[in-house]
Amino acid sequence: MKSKNTFIVTGGAGFIGSNFILKVIKDPNNFVINYDLLTYAGNLNNLKSIENNQNYFFVKGDIGDSSKLNGLFDKFKPNFVVNFAAETHVDRSILNPKNFLDTNILGLHCLLNISTNYFKSHKKLFKFLNISTDEVYGSLNTNELPFNENNQFKPNSPYSASKASGDHLVRSYNKTFGLPTLTSNCSNNYGPMQFPEKLIPLVIINYLNNKKIPVYGDGKNIRDWLYVEDHIDALQMILSKGEIGDTYNIGGENEFENLHIIKIICDYLDNHFDKNESSFVRLVNFVKDREGHDFRYAIDSSKINKKLGWKAKVAFNKGIDKTIKWYLNNNDWLNQVQSRSYQKWINQNYL
Ligand code: NAD
Ligand code: TYD
Repeated sequence: MKSKNTFIVTGGAGFIGSNFILKVIKDPNNFVINYDLLTYAGNLNNLKSIENNQNYFFVKGDIGDSSKLNGLFDKFKPNFVVNFAAETHVDRSILNPKNFLDTNILGLHCLLNISTNYFKSHKKLFKFLNISTDEVYGSLNTNELPFNENNQFKPNSPYSASKASGDHLVRSYNKTFGLPTLTSNCSNNYGPMQFPEKLIPLVIINYLNNKKIPVYGDGKNIRDWLYVEDHIDALQMILSKGEIGDTYNIGGENEFENLHIIKIICDYLDNHFDKNESSFVRLVNFVKDREGHDFRYAIDSSKINKKLGWKAKVAFNKGIDKTIKWYLNNNDWLNQVQSRSYQKWINQNYL
């Protein structure tokens, strides 16, 4: 009998991690341990459909908890560690940078140490994939070329600085200790199950609650949007075919100003609810700009395209259609999320 691929997925109850698990678990040859601290962003409802699957197992824990991790590695003997666990929201990193250093640097360091010791004592197939962000490269002007893997790291927020530190640590564990690492640096994801502190789900949920939509500064900042399933496809390719020690940029080639995204969503929902007025005009509320607000992110994905054959498949109009429909059809999820720390966050920051 073929032995199973065993994955430890950290942060698997979050947005991208849960989408990743739902895809990977479809292959009956994969066994997945979801290791997640269940912070405000972790939500086991994302994985309700597989909670009784024999190839899925959840363990609550911190990536900074070495004794718990040791036990986990000893028991399950993973072939793959895929690290999604992180503090991820830029605004929260401005309010409280310390949490970001604790998880994204010290927690990751702990996970790297345990993985290295485990790898050295078990001579079997093992890969460590760290999920990172394009924000490590800093910000672009309108006329600058998209980030490629050779760009210098110039992080501007405590979030991106903590992720950049993490990326450097991962590199050092490969170069110094021989840990078989892979790193991905991806642009802004959107899709089902994203916590509504991030722009796209925030706009949808505020529209549905008839609340103002806070637009930072003049709303002209640009992000490159990638549908989450395309990101997952890229991660699976990196895991199976990526060069050990390498990093891969992943982008959607969907650069839009924030106001454009907000208008698309408002118009879609006005049409859905048969409204004649423009909710965009009524709901948009220009607020104080985010401190250190990066102007533009854009990604050059030609390396992953040429080396691994990956390209984003989901056009933005299709991806946003699927995303809005998912939020419209998942009221229980929305109500549950809004009854938790979401409301506290919104009250503190936007009212
Ligand atoms: P998320 O905030 O939705 O989820 C993060 C998950 O990590 C949560 O389930 C949380 O409970 C868990 N977690 C936090 N601290 C932990 C700890 N100390 N130990 C164990 N678990 C912990 O994040 P996401 O949007 O799914 O992002 C996942 C990864 O992808 C992050 O590393 C992020 O930097 C990266 N990334 C995200 C985007 C994006 O647009 N969302 C883009 C590029 C890269
Ligand atoms: P966000 O979803 O927080 O992602 P990131 O800052 O990591 O790229 O924000 C995306 C863009 O939307 C960013 O330019 C900030 C802006 N934004 C707003 O204008 N209002 C909001 O309420 C939020 C959450 C973001």
